[in-house]
Amino acid sequence: MTASTLLERFLFPHQAVSAQALRRAVAGRTVLITGASFGIGEQLARQIGSAGGRLLLVARTASRLEALAEEITAAGGTASVYPCDLNDLAAVAALAERLPAFQPDIVISNAGKSIRRPMMDSLDRFHDITRTNNINFLSPARLILAALPGMVERGGQIVSVSAANVLLPPAPYWAAYQASKTGFDQWLRSAAPELRARGVAVTSIYLPLVRTRMIAPTRFYDGVPAMQPDQAAMRIAASLITRRRAWAPWWLSPVHVLAPALRTPWDAWTDRQQRRALR
Ligand SMILES: NC(=O)c1ccc[n+]([C@@H]2O[C@H](COP(=O)([O-])OP(=O)(O)OC[C@H]3O[C@@H](n4cnc5c(N)ncnc54)[C@H](OP(=O)(O)O)[C@@H]3O)[C@@H](O)[C@H]2O)c1
Repeated sequence: MTASTLLERFLFPHQAVSAQALRRAVAGRTVLITGASFGIGEQLARQIGSAGGRLLLVARTASRLEALAEEITAAGGTASVYPCDLNDLAAVAALAERLPAFQPDIVISNAGKSIRRPMMDSLDRFHDITRTNNINFLSPARLILAALPGMVERGGQIVSVSAANVLLPPAPYWAAYQASKTGFDQWLRSAAPELRARGVAVTSIYLPLVRTRMIAPTRFYDGVPAMQPDQAAMRIAASLITRRRAWAPWWLSPVHVLAPALRTPWDAWTDRQQRRALR
């Protein structure tokens, strides 16, 4: 085992989920997963499909959703596909209108758009802000609102696939992504007590770096420890069993607690880095 694999095992210890417990949590329940065509959502759909969950798969790439649904169905599961661009608010409104009829018990808001771009390269790219907010915040919120009455009746669950960065001081170049993920996190956490009181579990999953196509364009991440997508999916699947409020890697909580005290040194360090880059 290489040093980097050992470090990844230390930072992201492997977790297995009891197949029986997952089956008890999802069998016969209708589970909507956005962003099921690639990466974490695709792995999660396989895990839930094989545990007997009835899947509603949403993303843009219809061909991949259809192939996944066929694979799940061939293995004895149930899956339907609903291709939808979460950046197209009219398409999302149309899906939201149909949603109550599908009776989702569990909504896993996993689709995400990440953008890393310096501010001075973003001057003519206001659409970076609208796009990330549509996909990471506004459309997931719309789908949840549509599914909520049924979830209250049936004791459902909402899972937000969020990012560790949301609990950490903000970093340069990530303004649009970080703001949209933080916005959705705050929206959902603000609503969570109202929803829990009505029997709907609300779970926020704060993922660290995960080796998917999302991080592939950032060459720097090639040498940085990252979770594997099936392991990230496993943490989400585990939350369907426990209905816990949040999951984050073990090392994130102490850093999160220290974050307010770290603000001044962090700002000083990032300012210095940026001035150095301009020289
Ligand atoms: N990878 C990481 O390091 C990391 C870290 C922290 C949090 N996360 C979060 O984990 C979640 C899953 O990301 P991933 O790493 O699995 O990335 P990924 O492999 O790029 O998958 C993203 C998924 O979102 C869907 N999606 C993107 N834009 C969409 C749109 N406009 N409309 C509908 N669906 C759209 C994609 O499907 P189509 O392209 O087919 O539409 C795809 O299924 C995201 O919310 C991300 O923010 C990831």
